[in-house]
Amino acid sequence: MSTIDEIKAKIDIVDLVSEAGVKLRKAGRNQTGFCPFHDNKHTPAFVVWPESGTWRCFGACNEGGDIFKFVMKREGIDFKEALQKLALRAGVEVQQIQRETPQQREAYDHLRVLLEDAVVYYRSHLFANNEILNYLHEKRGLTDATIETFGLGYAPQGYDNLIRHFTSKGYMPQDLVDAGMLSERESGGYYDRFRNRIMIPIRDENGKMAGFGARIVDPDDIPKFLNSPETAIFTKGHLLYGLDRARKPIRAADQAVIVEGYLDVIALHQAGYENVVSPMGTALTEDQLRLLKRSTRRIVLALDPDVAGQKAVLRGLEAARSAMDKEGELAFDAHGLLRNEARLQADLRVATMPDDLDPDEIVARNKEEWATLIANAKPIITHVMETVSAGQDLNDPKIKNQIAAQVLPLIDDMGSPLERDTYRQALARMLRVDERSLMAAQPKGPVVRRKPRVGESSRRVESSTVVAANPRKNIEFYCLGVLLRKPELLYRLDRRLEEFGLSPLAVEDFEYTDHQLMFDVLRQAMGQDEKDHGLYVLSQMPEALSALTNELLAQTEKLDMLDDKLLEDLLGRFLDLRRSHAMTNVTQLKFMQDDEQEQGGENIKIYIEQTMRFTRLLNGLDQAKLKLSKRQA
Ligand code: GTP
Ligand code: MN
Repeated sequence: MSTIDEIKAKIDIVDLVSEAGVKLRKAGRNQTGFCPFHDNKHTPAFVVWPESGTWRCFGACNEGGDIFKFVMKREGIDFKEALQKLALRAGVEVQQIQRETPQQREAYDHLRVLLEDAVVYYRSHLFANNEILNYLHEKRGLTDATIETFGLGYAPQGYDNLIRHFTSKGYMPQDLVDAGMLSERESGGYYDRFRNRIMIPIRDENGKMAGFGARIVDPDDIPKFLNSPETAIFTKGHLLYGLDRARKPIRAADQAVIVEGYLDVIALHQAGYENVVSPMGTALTEDQLRLLKRSTRRIVLALDPDVAGQKAVLRGLEAARSAMDKEGELAFDAHGLLRNEARLQADLRVATMPDDLDPDEIVARNKEEWATLIANAKPIITHVMETVSAGQDLNDPKIKNQIAAQVLPLIDDMGSPLERDTYRQALARMLRVDERSLMAAQPKGPVVRRKPRVGESSRRVESSTVVAANPRKNIEFYCLGVLLRKPELLYRLDRRLEEFGLSPLAVEDFEYTDHQLMFDVLRQAMGQDEKDHGLYVLSQMPEALSALTNELLAQTEKLDMLDDKLLEDLLGRFLDLRRSHAMTNVTQLKFMQDDEQEQGGENIKIYIEQTMRFTRLLNGLDQAKLKLSKRQA
C-alpha cells in the first residue's frame, strides 16, 4: 500500500470534514451538509461517502474528491503540503516522497563509490586466501561464479588495513566513518570495523552499494554477523538483501520468498531460485514488505527450523513487543504480519523447514524439495493454528479455550470478512466446538471512536480497509498505469469518446486526488510538442507523485495486449467508471431529494436538475457501452 493509501486508511473523512466546521447529518448510507467551499447555507448539497473516503458538492462547486482534495481546497495548499499535513495527522512517515537533494546525492554517491572500492578490496583478499575460499567452496557449496556474482570478499585480520589502503588512495577517515567502515576509539582515532570476516556486500533494490554484512570465520568470534552501522545510505529497515538480483525473478514468478540468512539467499540463487531475499537480522518491516509489494502481492516467509524461527511468528502472542526490533533477532510477529497483509492487500504465507535444516541445507540435499516446501506454504493463521495446537490435547476444554484466546484476536486482524468467517469455521472445526460458542468465548472490547493523536497510528485498520479495497481505485490505478506507459492512447480514447457523443477524458473521471493530479500532468504534457511523450510525462511528474509513478510503472511492466485491444479495454473501463460515478450520484441525490421533501421541499430544484443531468449521462453511457460491445462482437 502506498503512503497515500495508508494515510487515507487512517484518516476518517467524516472526522476531517466535521472538524472543518461542516455539520453533517445522515442521508442514506452517507452524510450531507452545507458545502464549505461555496456560499449557500440553504441547500445541503455537500455529500460525504465514508466508505470510499470521498466527498462531492452537488451545488455551485459541482466538484468532489478525497481527503487530500478537501484539505487542499480548504486551506489553499498544494498536494505536497496536504500530503505532509495529513501524514502527520495519520502518523505516517512520508519518506518515500523525500528524494535526495542534489547535494545529498553527490555526498551519497561519494560514499557508494567508496563502498564499491571496498568490495574490490575485500574480494582481492578473498582470492588470496585459500582457507576462506575453501570454506566457501567445500562447506558452503558456493561456486566461483556465485562468489563473483554476489561480490563476496574477506576482511583481513588487523585493525588498520582498510584505513591505510583508503587513506593512501586519497579518502579522508571521515569518509570511511560515514560509509560505516571504521569505528572510533574512545581514546580518539579509528580502527577497521570489519576484521577477519567474510564480507557480503549489501545493495539497494537498484544495485547501488549500501553497506556490508560480515560473517565470522573463527567460530569463537562474536557476534556471528556484524553489519554496517546505520548510515545515510544503509537503513536496514528499508533494504532487503538480494532484492537487486531478485526483483525480476520475483515478477516473473509473481512470488517473493523471504528467508532469514544472507547465505541462504546466495545458496538459493545459485540453485536457480532467484526470487529470494532476506532482511538483515532484524524484524521484517512494513517498508520491506512494501518494497516487495511493488513486484508481487504473493509473499512467502520461509522460517528457519530453530525454536526462534518457529516460535517467532507467535511472538506477538506471548512476549513483549519491545523485543521485536532487537538486533540479531528476526521476529515474524503474527499480529503485525496480518495487519500488514490486510493493509498491503498482500498474500502472506509461511513455509517451515523440516529436519532442522536451513534453506541452504535443503537445496543442497535436494533442489526440488525447496519448490515443494514453498508451494506448500500456509496462510499465517493456518500456520499459527497448527503451531499452537501441536502436541496439545485438543479434547481438554481448558486447552481449547487457551487456543481460541490466542487465535481469535488474530483472525480479527484479517482484512476480509470472508476470510475471517472461513478461519473462524476452521478454528471451530479444529477445536471441535460449535462456531457460536467460539464467538461467545471471545471477550469483546467496546469499539471506541476517538480522534487519533498526532504520531499515533489511529483507528484499527480493519474498520477502514474499505477505502483501500475500493475496486474503483484499482481500476483508476490500472487505467492510469496504461496511460503512463502509452500516453498516445489518450488521444485515441478522446476520439472514441467523442464518437459516442461523450466528453473527452478529464480530471473528473478520477476520484482520487493523486490520480487526478497525475492525469492532469499527463494531459498537460500531451499538449506539448515533444518527441517522446512518455519520457516527457515522467519528467513533468511532481516529486510528491514519484512513489505512485513507480508503482504504476511496475504494475504495467508487462502489458501483453496490442494497442488496439488496450484501447478498447480502457474505453470500456472508463465508461464503467463514469457509469458507476453517475449511479452513485443518482442514488445519493434520491436520498437528498426525499429528505428535502420532508423538510418542505424548498431546494428540491437543484437536486432534480442534478439528477436529470446524471440520468442523461447514464443513458449516453449505456448506449456507448452497447455500441462498444457490438463492435467487439
Ligand atoms: P550460516 O550460519 O553461516 O548458515 O549463516 P546464516 O546466514 O544462515 O545465518 P543464521 O541462520 O545464523 O542467521 C540468519 C540471519 O540472522 C543472518 O544472515 C544475519 O542476518 C542474522 N544474524 C544471525 N546472527 C546474528 C548476529 O549475531 N548479529 C546480527 N546483527 N545478525 C545476526
Ligand atoms: Mn544458515
